[in-house]
Amino acid sequence: MDNIKVNFDNVDVTEKNIMKYAEEVEKIHDELHKKANDPKEFLGWMELPTNYDKKEFEKIKKSAKKIQDNSDVLVVIGIGGSYLGARAVIEALTHTFYAYLPKEQRKTPQILYVGNNLNPNYINDIIDLIGNRDFSINVISKSGTTTEPAIAFRIFREILENKYGLKEAQKRIYVTTDKKKGALKQLADTEKYTTFVIPDNIGGRYSVLTAVGLLPIAVAGIDITKLMNGARFAQEKYVDKSLKYNDCYKYAVIRNLLYKNSKNIEILVSYEPKLHYMIEWWKQLFAESEGKDGKGIFPTGAEFTTDLHSIGQYIQEGRRNLFETVINIEKSKNDIEIKEDADNLDGLNYIAGKKLDYVNKKAMEGTISAHVDGGVPNIVINMSELNEETLGHLIYFFELAVAMSGNLIGVNPFNQPGVEKYKTNMFKLLKKPGYEDKK
Ligand code: PA5
Repeated sequence: MDNIKVNFDNVDVTEKNIMKYAEEVEKIHDELHKKANDPKEFLGWMELPTNYDKKEFEKIKKSAKKIQDNSDVLVVIGIGGSYLGARAVIEALTHTFYAYLPKEQRKTPQILYVGNNLNPNYINDIIDLIGNRDFSINVISKSGTTTEPAIAFRIFREILENKYGLKEAQKRIYVTTDKKKGALKQLADTEKYTTFVIPDNIGGRYSVLTAVGLLPIAVAGIDITKLMNGARFAQEKYVDKSLKYNDCYKYAVIRNLLYKNSKNIEILVSYEPKLHYMIEWWKQLFAESEGKDGKGIFPTGAEFTTDLHSIGQYIQEGRRNLFETVINIEKSKNDIEIKEDADNLDGLNYIAGKKLDYVNKKAMEGTISAHVDGGVPNIVINMSELNEETLGHLIYFFELAVAMSGNLIGVNPFNQPGVEKYKTNMFKLLKKPGYEDKK
């Protein structure tokens, strides 16, 4: 099951310089593990793959089945860590055009995401898209007070209640939130909605393997047991604190060495469009975990070969403050052969008989060497294939890597104080009670 291997050959750092971090890494590792089960620390994700609530897990599966049976659409309401993980896994493991496929081909409900912006066109278009079809709602908010999902929930709850009546609507609303706190929890208790708990010691962006991610993922027909197994494998693999053998910690250390060498932008690259939201999830995980106190590597993403025709120029020849981490999926699920053409007017017969994934891989190899030659170090994460186990592994890999990396950079990877600033200003402008300008 060792389905992920990281290659650091295209980064110009010596083993000696990496190993200088060994002691610090071990110290951080010990601290993280010591506090992994402390309810006051945000480290519950560390042992989650082996230590999750089995009863809740079965309840997730049961609810997912119910939603599959009575709904053609699941509306997932949430923002940031409360939706990106689910969307990342669903888009990675379903048909590229899952959302557009007819019901008979899709087999499981269409998943639509709202509450992740405040745009009226977006919400109205989703309402149009749902049309007269049967739907259920999964509203996800750890704090239970976030404005974007709260507004979306108010809108879609009303639509659901008008369509089905209060009683049936209650049965179609699934709430994932804190076990005690927040307006959403109060509402859920009053209305007797089915609820799922986000453990106190797991922050939003580390919560994909809780009900936050697992319920929508299960509704989309993905095997959540296998996903957890993949993460469990990673948990067991990266428990080795020796930097020499721990690729996850090596990734964290090498990022740090690059950062110290003025490489302050990391681009997560993929050649698989299905990983678009995986990149979005990673961006949020790394940006909110590391970007504080005037520090941190700026995480961004690129999808190749598409973006080689847009930002590729900058990467090749622009400011030399970049490095890339490439996710390489070794075995494509499907492939297509490029056929011989008698006229060869397009000049492509030189690759006739080759499969498209082979060409994609050559584009990747050519790009890596071009970028490395151009002064952009490349880390390559080789995944054997894209499935529940490899993705579970990758999720855990990145969560642990950012926990280590944030500590090495000298920030707290588990808070996000900066996110509050825009909210305070917005609340003042909206005249939310308690936010009146004191000037
Ligand atoms: O990672 C985080 O903590 C944040 O991105 C949150 O997930 C996001 O702000 C949504 O918060 P909540 O789940 O409280 O609505």
